[in-house]
Amino acid sequence: MNAFYLTTPLYYVNAKPHLGHAYTTIIADCLARAHRQRGEQVFLLTGTDEHGEKIAQAAQAQGITPKEFVDKTSGTFHSLWQQLGISYDHFIRTTDADHIHTVQKILETLRPQLELGRFKFWYCVPCETSFGLTEIETAKAVCPQCQRPVQQTEEEDYYLPLEKHRAWLKEYILKNPKFIQPESRRNEVMAMLANELPALCITRPKERVSWGIEVPFSTTHVTYVWFDALLNYISALGWPDGEKFKLFWKETGAIHLVGKDIIRHHCLYWPIVLHALGIDPPKTIFAHGWWLVKGEKMSKSKGNIVDPGAVVDAYGLDAFRYFLLRDVPFGDDGVFSEESFVKRINSDLSNDLGNLVYRTLTMIEKHTGGKIPAGKQDARMMEQIALADAGTWKYLQQVAPSEALKTLWELIRWANQQVEENAPWTLAKEGKRQELEQFLYQLADTVRAILLLTWPFMPTAAESAWKQLGMSSDLAAERLPETLSRPIPIGQAIAKGTPLFPRIQLTAD
Ligand code: MSP
Repeated sequence: MNAFYLTTPLYYVNAKPHLGHAYTTIIADCLARAHRQRGEQVFLLTGTDEHGEKIAQAAQAQGITPKEFVDKTSGTFHSLWQQLGISYDHFIRTTDADHIHTVQKILETLRPQLELGRFKFWYCVPCETSFGLTEIETAKAVCPQCQRPVQQTEEEDYYLPLEKHRAWLKEYILKNPKFIQPESRRNEVMAMLANELPALCITRPKERVSWGIEVPFSTTHVTYVWFDALLNYISALGWPDGEKFKLFWKETGAIHLVGKDIIRHHCLYWPIVLHALGIDPPKTIFAHGWWLVKGEKMSKSKGNIVDPGAVVDAYGLDAFRYFLLRDVPFGDDGVFSEESFVKRINSDLSNDLGNLVYRTLTMIEKHTGGKIPAGKQDARMMEQIALADAGTWKYLQQVAPSEALKTLWELIRWANQQVEENAPWTLAKEGKRQELEQFLYQLADTVRAILLLTWPFMPTAAESAWKQLGMSSDLAAERLPETLSRPIPIGQAIAKGTPLFPRIQLTAD
């Protein structure tokens, strides 16, 4: 059995989750479901990043301890993931005792390679990232990543020298073109590797930041939050000798989904830390773009947050998942607006998929007594289904959910077109009973296949339509591709419900 290991970033818990966080996690869920559906052994890891200065400040602002604060806010991510149908296998918190223990063990392992030094740098608290003195103009003093104010800091830290690993990493990236995707991000990382790499401070002095993992060999330092957080990808697997570490890291290799703002940490620091530990790099780091609102990155400080829970409450979970998965090619930036959302839902979900399911069930109700009529599988339809199956799977393996959905929609539109061309209502009027039944059988059989292919993207809608079609099996337990060609049972009673995706009227309409 093939294995598949997929991770999301660990989300900072200083603020409520927003659309950007939901985006990565929904893509991860869709991929995990698709791989499970193909019979693979999947491990989907997500969780929360709970240490560091920014979290300590947020807790202080509420007048509670950091631990009380993170216990409360981590729960909001947890419950949003339930609401969004995220089928994670493990939710890690960096304050978990197991994780803390592993981080300390890794610090001890790396101890002979660490040095103590005095550093002067710019520090961005929201990004929890340091920048060299020459990387930022003193007059401006803003973070090159998030444009928020940075502070100049001087402190003594333990550090891992990165420069001696630079040649290795450059060569590794050149030899493994799929390691960093898409290509634009790979080029960005190669540009970072063109110059000497600064040391990576892996501690912070307690006098400045006390909310962090204790450093076993220093009473005056805690662990730097990014060093602690990156290690989650192996601590959750039971590094160094856990069974999961063996299967999912050593044999399979990880796929990390990240936003483009954190490639420096994932594509430079992380592989080098692993290299220093004698561990292979992940298989792929895939960086997606940003969701923008009115041209700006959505973020708490800009006050332009789209609350995923509110969109789901207003328009339904499947519509929300579909929009995020379909609207932008993975890797590009996307623009969120209610207008574009409603337009896409009305055209793709109400007009295409919802309409196909509803009219199929309505015709079966009307012409064949609410039962799947007798018929045979049609070679041309089977061919279209096989094409959609191969296309969606190919694109999902390439982490291209938008392309996968485009391929699936070719089948849905083709099926709708078949209804127009075969005009079952005319067949009924003309009393062509056998032709009518054969056509409705084929149509129901195609809808069955479409629902199987739709499930990883919109599990709730697919499961509801599956039941309406009269299917008694658990859709989540069906395995592809075998089940795609299994004929729909003749005589099965359907249970038509309300349309899956009623047209949305914008208030301004
Ligand atoms: N805690 C770190 C990650 C540690 S991983 C070992 C972090 N957290 S974060 O909460 O700030 O961001 C997590 C992810 O959400 C990032 O990959 C980031 O790109 C993504 N997004 C945050 N805002 C976003 C948008 N506006 N659009 C799309 N994704 C965005 O960084």
